[in-house]
Amino acid sequence: MAKTMKKQRIGLLTGGGDCAGLNPAMKWVVKTAMDERLQWERGVQYEVLGIRDGWKGLVRVEPTSMDIPGYIVPLNPEMVRTWDRYGGTFLGTSRTNPYNPQNDQSKTLLENIERLGLHALIAIGGEDTQGVACQLAKAGVNVVGIPKTIDKDLPGSDYTLGFETALNVITEEVDRLRTTAGSHKRIFVVETMGRHAGWLALEGGESCGAFVILIPEHDFSVQKVCDLVEEGRREGARYEIIVVAEGAKPEGGQEFVTGVGVDSFGHKTLGGIGDYLAQEIRKGTRIDTRCVVLSHLQRGGAPCAYDRRMGRYFGIAAVDLVVNESFGRMVSYRNGRITAVPIEEVVGELKLVNVKTEYDTDRYNGRRSILDHFGRRLEEHADQAAIRHG
Ligand code: F6P
Repeated sequence: MAKTMKKQRIGLLTGGGDCAGLNPAMKWVVKTAMDERLQWERGVQYEVLGIRDGWKGLVRVEPTSMDIPGYIVPLNPEMVRTWDRYGGTFLGTSRTNPYNPQNDQSKTLLENIERLGLHALIAIGGEDTQGVACQLAKAGVNVVGIPKTIDKDLPGSDYTLGFETALNVITEEVDRLRTTAGSHKRIFVVETMGRHAGWLALEGGESCGAFVILIPEHDFSVQKVCDLVEEGRREGARYEIIVVAEGAKPEGGQEFVTGVGVDSFGHKTLGGIGDYLAQEIRKGTRIDTRCVVLSHLQRGGAPCAYDRRMGRYFGIAAVDLVVNESFGRMVSYRNGRITAVPIEEVVGELKLVNVKTEYDTDRYNGRRSILDHFGRRLEEHADQAAIRHG
């Protein structure tokens, strides 16, 4: 007797800022969910519906009018065959917050999930996207999360898609700056993204060998930066690369914000610290100092090998959670292994750099000590720093 096969529909979307790694993850969700051999083993035939433009698409879609706005894209393995080679997100994304108290669209969102007949929903994104996923899980939706953000500030996962590619961009761009900085004996201040977390600046700065790294978790003294530069010059340095996170601030100062207003999740757009710092260093040292803001270059370009591989693992693991009906969880990378954590454990807080164990406040740079005398990593017996975001 022929085995009967259940049919189930999975929705897939990407939310928040784009970055490299989203397309690889989507490719592997589709390939794993629709793998013919696995379908027979599971006794379930999955259909994967891509939802364009993140939560916006799921709010605006009109399931009963044949999706006239065009927010639904049925995906199949052939369509996604080459996706892992490309940056950005082929489904598009948005910063729409359906639970925004000023414009609550959660009722429509829940109705649309029901009307589209989604058995499960896989949401790829950072703190905001996982925050919405968490609310949906509480409302009874079968949600699975995949972590992505170049900021690497999601608790619950040691890795978030897009981070390594962004580090590669920082490293490559600084390599380029070095030749011109050296030729002119200039200082270059390089402003990175990262919002309130310093991971991108810190690990980007470590990767490119920056002279000074300034992070949001530790307010800096402009005078001290100038002193470090002058000391370096006395010791023979010809130029300096100073990496500053967009959320870093001088002692007693505020975060630098561009424009006005906040997005639908309440975030201000940060930026401007690089220019300010370059100007102050110029005044303080009389050395020609320029600023380069890397901005969205860090989110652009093809995924590096690591993001392709992690996108693959995260995509496969997300489907495993769906198959095992283990909902309300986000796939995660912990201590060198792919695993999963409850989504509610990754929202409400940001994972920040632990200044005590990860940062050298004397040199304004990465640490020069990693292990204690038992060979254990220092942070194993230090509290992880975290802030409430608001
Ligand atoms: O969260 C990712 C991120 O790139 C932050 O580092 C940055 O502050 C923000 O997004 C920029 O957002 P947008 O592309 O909406 O300006």
